[in-house]
Amino acid sequence: MQQLRLTKAVFPVAGLGTRFLPATKAQPKEMLPVVDKPLIQYAVEEAYSAGIRQMIFVTGRNKRAIEDHFDTAYELESELEKAEKHALLKVLRSVQPDDLNFAFVRQPRSLGLGHAVLCAEPLVGNEAFAVLLADDLMVGPSGGPSVLAQMAEQFHQVQQSILAVQEVPSEHTRRYGIVAVDQPEAATPALMKVRKIVEKPAPDVAPSRMGVAGRYILTPAIFDHIRAQASGVGGEIQLTDGISSLLGVESVYAFQYQGKRYDCGSKEGFLEATVELALQHPEVGAHFRAYLKGLKLD
Ligand code: UTP
Repeated sequence: MQQLRLTKAVFPVAGLGTRFLPATKAQPKEMLPVVDKPLIQYAVEEAYSAGIRQMIFVTGRNKRAIEDHFDTAYELESELEKAEKHALLKVLRSVQPDDLNFAFVRQPRSLGLGHAVLCAEPLVGNEAFAVLLADDLMVGPSGGPSVLAQMAEQFHQVQQSILAVQEVPSEHTRRYGIVAVDQPEAATPALMKVRKIVEKPAPDVAPSRMGVAGRYILTPAIFDHIRAQASGVGGEIQLTDGISSLLGVESVYAFQYQGKRYDCGSKEGFLEATVELALQHPEVGAHFRAYLKGLKLD
């Protein structure tokens, strides 16, 4: 059988970002910066590190800034060139390496994550693809591969859909797709076959405490399964329901990644990411550490 390759990533960025109002009234939450980079850039860099070069954004109203961010800023570049600010020019150009391609498709209404993924179908075609939710900022282990790169490595072995999972506190099951899994093979303890997946269950009916984080690798069969879904939790067309239906015909794996996830769609997660990434930042880290140490917290 022909090996499935992973060359495309889908970034659904058409959500309303209501948890971050008023900051997201006129700008996309994916453009909120953690230290000095917008969330969406962290996600694109993660996909790039997994060998993906075709980035597909599913956008909506108020999302122009994302398209502009990945476009060439001619005026700014020529000003920086004139001023011989070479270091800044390098930073600017690093946002769009020559071998990256960007494509944009619009989700006309926020009908849910499943619907957003379906909007990308004409650009994805009959190929496996990654889905990255940029408001989940994922940091791989220090010096190690990114979370999506870890998943891509697994995908090349199993050639089936893979969901990133992590243990979540039982009082938080309502925030996640929750999976029930089979025992893993001894050789690959982090990779487990999914038996069941449920969107945002209450703690007393959740099949486990294993929650899906915002990284997926999906086979193109998912599109037909999303299309067949009626609206689910919250009146939205849920990706989780599509995956649940896909389970009937294909294996789907849950992968316990190495690294840390920050839920930057919530204020708390965003603040945690900001503090921790600032502490590691080569330019501001040392100063910020000293500043935090001087704070009187009690
Ligand atoms: P969220 O559940 O975080 O929703 O979506 P949201 O609208 O962005 O934010 P809140 O809850 O109102 O604060 C998860 C991901 O799915 C995308 C979002 O952009 C986010 O990356 N999404 C969601 C879409 O692209 N379209 C939708 O219709 C819904």
